Amino acid sequence: MRKNIVAGNWKMNLNRVEGIALVEEVLAKLPTDNNTHIIFAPAFVYLHKVAKMCANTSKVVAAAQDCSSNEKGAFTGEVSASMLASCSARYVVLGHSERRANFTETNALLKTKVAQAFENDLKVIFCCGESLAQRENGDHFDWIKSQISESLFHLSADEFKNIVIAYEPIWAIGTGVTASTDQAQEIHAFIRDLLVEKYGEEAAESTSILYGGSCKPSNAKELFSSQDIDGGLIGGASLKADDFLAITQSF
Ligand code: 13P
Repeated sequence: MRKNIVAGNWKMNLNRVEGIALVEEVLAKLPTDNNTHIIFAPAFVYLHKVAKMCANTSKVVAAAQDCSSNEKGAFTGEVSASMLASCSARYVVLGHSERRANFTETNALLKTKVAQAFENDLKVIFCCGESLAQRENGDHFDWIKSQISESLFHLSADEFKNIVIAYEPIWAIGTGVTASTDQAQEIHAFIRDLLVEKYGEEAAESTSILYGGSCKPSNAKELFSSQDIDGGLIGGASLKADDFLAITQSF
């Protein structure tokens, strides 16, 4: 019932030429019977180009990596959700741990970004995840619960249909250390239970929950075979066409 999704978060990597070449190669090699929803999240500056390149391929769309919490105005350097929508983005990634850490994004701020995204018909890939210290202290469940509930639980069940959750343990991001399938599945099941409690079985069952953190071709199949892991939010391995393609075909 829920979508299998693989999203490539390029972060601050690839220039315009490299980004275009990557999308061209992925689209050219994508199997005709591809069943996975694929999302490219490039930098703002060529988001429109990437979105246009995807326009004729079914199940492939573009996402932004962030948006402003403000609608418009004197916010030099910021990019609004309405600008992203006008560049044909379909999703926006919000609450990535790198933004939470480097730009002090709080749960309350992210709530306002979600509102901006929804005002402009963008779907949201909402990131959550704990640090190693939090996991070692056993605080990870409460932490993830607060991230999700404080930024999202004001939404109606209908609005929540436009949310994809990405669980990204900070200790697994860019480190080469992947959460074990059991560790990831445990958190995904926990998140789905939170959604059941808040929105009921049907809404919870139709929400895609992605795993992110050193996901690569060699571990994607095992991760994605878990009951509550519906795909991945991929960093490093999304920068190489063959690796990204292999992950998209790992269901
Ligand atoms: P890596 O796949 O490089 O660990 O990054 C994961 C991530 O942060 C995706 O948003």
